[in-house]
Amino acid sequence: MALAREGAAVVVADLDATGADETCAVIRASGGRADVLALDVTEEGDWNAAIEAVSRRHGELHILVNNAALCIRSPLLETSFETWRRQNAVNLDGVFLGTRAALPLIVASGGGSIVNISSVAGLKGIAGLSGYCASKGGVRLFTKAVALECAAARNKVRVNVICPGSIETPIWVKMMNDGVLPHGSNSDTALMDEIRSASAEATPLGFSGAPDDIAEGVIYLCSEAARFVTGAELVIDGGVFAG
Ligand SMILES: NC(=O)c1ccc[n+]([C@@H]2O[C@H](COP(=O)([O-])OP(=O)(O)OC[C@H]3O[C@@H](n4cnc5c(N)ncnc54)[C@H](O)[C@@H]3O)[C@@H](O)[C@H]2O)c1
Repeated sequence: MALAREGAAVVVADLDATGADETCAVIRASGGRADVLALDVTEEGDWNAAIEAVSRRHGELHILVNNAALCIRSPLLETSFETWRRQNAVNLDGVFLGTRAALPLIVASGGGSIVNISSVAGLKGIAGLSGYCASKGGVRLFTKAVALECAAARNKVRVNVICPGSIETPIWVKMMNDGVLPHGSNSDTALMDEIRSASAEATPLGFSGAPDDIAEGVIYLCSEAARFVTGAELVIDGGVFAG
C-alpha cells in the first residue's frame, strides 16, 4: 500500500488469495494501481510464472520485496525436521527463488531495488525460535552476497535487508500455533493483547511498531535517496537492538 501511495504499480503476490484481493481493493479504492498474483514463494514454478506475468502485464519490474515468512515458536527438541524445513522453505528458499527469478527482469528494466525482510531474530538468538532465527540470519547474509554480485556486475540493482522488531500483525498469533492463523482469530484476541503488552514492555520506545513503520523503510531503500545504499541492514525496532 505504501509503494502504491508513492506511485508504483504494485503486484500483490501471496498464498492468501483473499488477503491479496483485499489489499489490491484498498489500493485501487484510494486511486493506486495494483493487481494480484497467486504465489507460493516456495515453488520455483510459481515464481517463474509470476515474473512472466509481471513482464506480460507491465513490461518492466523495478522493485521486489521478499516479505512472506512463517514464524513458528518451538523449542529445539520439540521441533520436527518437517517444521524446520517448512519454515526455511518459506523464509529462506522463498527469498532465494524470488530474487533469482526477478533479477533478470529488473536488470532488463534498467535496474532497481530488492528489499528482503529479515528480523531482529536474524541479528540475535531468541530462545524458542531457533528455526526462525536461522532462516532470518540466512536472509541477511544472502542479501549482502547478492548485493555485492549486483554491484560487481554494475547492473544498477541495489539489494538491502530490513530487520524489523516487534510489529503488530497476525504473525504474533500464528507464531504460537505452528505458523498458522487459528480459525476465527483476529487482532482482538486475548493473545494479541498479551503479546502487545509484553512487546511494549520489551521495546525501549515503549510500544510495538505498525506495518507502515517497516513500509517507510522499504520506500526509502527503493528511492533515489538510497542510491549509495546496498548490502545494508536497516534495523527498525523501537530501540531493541541498541543495547
Ligand atoms: N510482525 C513482526 O513482529 C515481525 C518482526 C520481525 C520480522 N517480521 C517479518 O516481516 C515479514 C512480514 O510478516 P508479518 O508480520 O506481516 O506476518 P504475516 O503472517 O501477517 O504475513 C506474512 C504473509 O506471508 C504470506 N505467506 C506465508 N507463506 C507464504 C508462501 N509460501 N507463499 C506466499 N506467501 C506466503 C502470508 O499469507 C501472509 O500474507 C515477515 O518476513 C516476517 O518474518 C515480522
